Amino acid sequence: VSTPECRVCGAPAEPFMSFGPMPIANAFVTADEIGGEYFGDLEVGFCPSCTMVQLVTFVDPAQLFHDHYAYFSSTSARMADHFAAFAEDVRRRHLGGADPFVVELGSNDGIMLRHFAAAGIRHLGVEPSANVAETARSRGVNTVCRFFDAAAADDIRAEYGPADALLGANVICHIPDLNELAHGVARLLAPGGVFVFEEPYLGDIVEKTSYDQIYDEHYFYFSVSSLSRLFARHGLEVVDAARQTVHGGSMRYTVARVGAHRIAPAVTALQDHEARLGLHDARTFAEFRRRVEVSRTKLVGLLQQMRALGKRVVGYGATSKSTTVLNYCGIGPDLIEFISDVTPGKQNRLTPGTHIPIRPYRQFVEAYPDYALLFAWNHADEILAKETAFLDRGGQFIVYVPDCAILAAGSGGVTRRETVSLP
Ligand code: SAH
Ligand code: TMP
Ligand code: ZN
Repeated sequence: VSTPECRVCGAPAEPFMSFGPMPIANAFVTADEIGGEYFGDLEVGFCPSCTMVQLVTFVDPAQLFHDHYAYFSSTSARMADHFAAFAEDVRRRHLGGADPFVVELGSNDGIMLRHFAAAGIRHLGVEPSANVAETARSRGVNTVCRFFDAAAADDIRAEYGPADALLGANVICHIPDLNELAHGVARLLAPGGVFVFEEPYLGDIVEKTSYDQIYDEHYFYFSVSSLSRLFARHGLEVVDAARQTVHGGSMRYTVARVGAHRIAPAVTALQDHEARLGLHDARTFAEFRRRVEVSRTKLVGLLQQMRALGKRVVGYGATSKSTTVLNYCGIGPDLIEFISDVTPGKQNRLTPGTHIPIRPYRQFVEAYPDYALLFAWNHADEILAKETAFLDRGGQFIVYVPDCAILAAGSGGVTRRETVSLP
């Protein structure tokens, strides 16, 4: 087996963990499609030269983002609030000039750009998945349906002029050629413009052992350190970084042309934090792998005990992340009756590879199970607040991040107990 090349700097990258054969994370299938699913090895590696953590094999983006993309951002009310605040922050800090122009990559159903549209600000969404792009347009959000790359940057600049703010959320890690991305950003940005984007943070993945962030759409797992090295190759620099609680721990990065903006103290502080966490050291990832293996043993053991006790266990949220957990742990319909999800496009389909039925939310409410395995753990606050009736009737949530635990109604709120062995 030859050593893979780092997709950013070309040096040899070191694979540190294979999750085995995986179907496409968001390819929820119908019963007829079983047998025809695409499987590829999900393996993740670390580049000791530039510190970028990345998948070893990339699935072609055209196979992931298309006219029936399953993820609609506006499904989560908490995320809608988050993006309203994100838009407001960008307006206040960066769009003070005359007739500003803002571009968002991966604008999905318009969850963030609609705020600029409503304020009459010139804007453009770049969104390759036609179905979600169409939803954005129907909400009055100007959207072009294509992948962002260097050619798109040139076309946009020719048509609209340079961008004062270039935005993105949970999309930059989906772009296979980061050097081309950075080049496109440098071409499109106005001289004093900013590129503000937020993505799941490698520091949180390592600290929480949230291995389910690792799936085909996430080609890269960023840190302030790895992105600083990347952008330095393109005359750009990270000028600010701020941790976000959404999606289980994200980082919002602000990038600008070298020298155009003052570098905030948070940038060095976070690089120091990353050095303490060992994000530049291959041993950290070997340790991570061992913790993932322990996590699998605990979760599978717990589900097997519940089955032996005759308990009903239902999944909550057919997330893309759950595809990694279910396939890596070998959890199928024998351990989980169904998964409840509010997304119409996922309902009455089966989970990729493991074929657990996905059912509308009302089926969860109509017959509460004993346990709900919280695959959408990143939305725990929103979901726990919504499911008081389930909890009050003795229903309990199982989570596996940062460790296997059971959440139940207790005095003064929800209590958490770790589950090395069952009650
Ligand atoms: N920003 C939204 C959507 C994230 S899902 C949110 O945070 O909720 C990722 C989105 O990026 C998908 O809608 C996908 O179609 C889009 N995408 C993938 N590759 C892209 C690329 N190269 N350029 C622009 N958008 C892309
Ligand atoms: P995400 O973790 O990628 O944001 O996906 C969350 C999934 O969980 C998505 O399919 C919608 C679903 N979901 C529910 O079914 N109920 C909820 O209350 C929330 C917040 C999400
Ligand atoms: Zn590298």
